[in-house]
Amino acid sequence: MMVCEYKPGLEGIPAAQSSISYVDGQKGILEYRGIRIEELAEKSTFLETAYLLIWGKLPSKEELETFEHEVRYHRRIKYRIRDMMKCFPESGHPMDALQASAAALGLFYSLRDLHNPVYIRDSVVRLIATIPTMVAAFQLMRKGNDPVRPRDDLDYSANFLYMLDEREPDPLMARIFDICLILQVEHTMNASTFSARVTASTLTDPYAVVASAVGTLGGPLHGGANEEVIQMLEKIGSVENVRPYIEDCLQSKSKIMGFGHRVYKVKDPRAIILQNLAEQLFEKFGHDKFYDIAQEMELVVEEKLGSKGIYPNIDFYSGLVYRKMGIPTDLFTPIFAIARVAGWLAHWKEQLAENRIFRPTQVYNGLHEITYTPIDKR
Ligand SMILES: CC(C)(COP(=O)(O)OP(=O)(O)OC[C@H]1O[C@@H](n2cnc3c(N)ncnc32)[C@H](O)[C@@H]1OP(=O)(O)O)[C@@H](O)C(=O)NCCC(=O)NCCS
Repeated sequence: MMVCEYKPGLEGIPAAQSSISYVDGQKGILEYRGIRIEELAEKSTFLETAYLLIWGKLPSKEELETFEHEVRYHRRIKYRIRDMMKCFPESGHPMDALQASAAALGLFYSLRDLHNPVYIRDSVVRLIATIPTMVAAFQLMRKGNDPVRPRDDLDYSANFLYMLDEREPDPLMARIFDICLILQVEHTMNASTFSARVTASTLTDPYAVVASAVGTLGGPLHGGANEEVIQMLEKIGSVENVRPYIEDCLQSKSKIMGFGHRVYKVKDPRAIILQNLAEQLFEKFGHDKFYDIAQEMELVVEEKLGSKGIYPNIDFYSGLVYRKMGIPTDLFTPIFAIARVAGWLAHWKEQLAENRIFRPTQVYNGLHEITYTPIDKR
């Protein structure tokens, strides 16, 4: 057997062959099925992009209408799921609520027929349709309110924003939210996608695949970073405090949230689009002083860490956009999951098409031949 060098974090080691997305971290390029994200952000919708990723091609007009129709009419969640969610502690993190609810879907749709394209399609539709409803339901129930029924006359993103507070969103806000979902839907072999593929490789159901990926996305080094960006901006408080804050972080060797990326060594192309969307929001709905702090941070971090390839990543500006939309900070990562579920499902389908269960090896660095010490002798 070939002996490979151990790489912490599997850095640089291919974990799968995939035709879903492509990143060039030196040039700052991200493509979904070969199409640049800048073009999709301008011309596509989240559901069309989800279709592209999952079925490998842009849908025809008819295919898209059918898909949108199916998703629209599967948005409602079962009363028993809602009742289960009502029992969750209000103080719990919405990502934990989402993980439990996604896993619970598997109890209701337990038939597992992975060779049947109808089962695959139904599962895709159900997960993409119901995850936003579950996020919104928990948001209202933790405040002591009843969840709002989805509105069939609203499109995907407008309906989600409506379900958060029962107010129909401004069309620009809904469109910008939809673009944010496009930007967050897929990103090659990141931690949550890897987790989804490992789970998928055991041939379990897609609800378990999504639940395990949601659990992985929640950590602060992955999806959770956008929440920490807002906490950091609140802590910094003013433009004058930016430089001392960054100097402190560098001295104490702590990471500055929203900066740096394992793959991108230039500014993340998604951050460039999000920054532009944030500016559109500020223009229409009023300036946000956090944006001034963020811009100063970008300058100082570039000055100090640009030579190491540390630039803003997607989480740096997504938090500012969601905050301006009035979305609570701890929903930022569940919203990331609403988007990313379509990417995970694309990987689930790709994994099933040429499945081999993941079974890596390890480098054992423990002891051998140790004798058992009875408990009263330890
Ligand atoms: C994303 C992240 C985990 C990538 O980590 P990585 O690929 O292991 O990057 P490295 O730790 O190898 O970074 C190389 C150097 O830059 C430094 N660096 C990386 N990100 C940094 C950050 N956000 N703040 C300060 N220094 C940073 C590292 O300390 C390291 O310095 P060294 O060479 O002196 O040891 C890391 O950049 C990070 O923790 N960022 C903050 C969290 C975040 O925004 N996550 C969202 C990612 S989309």
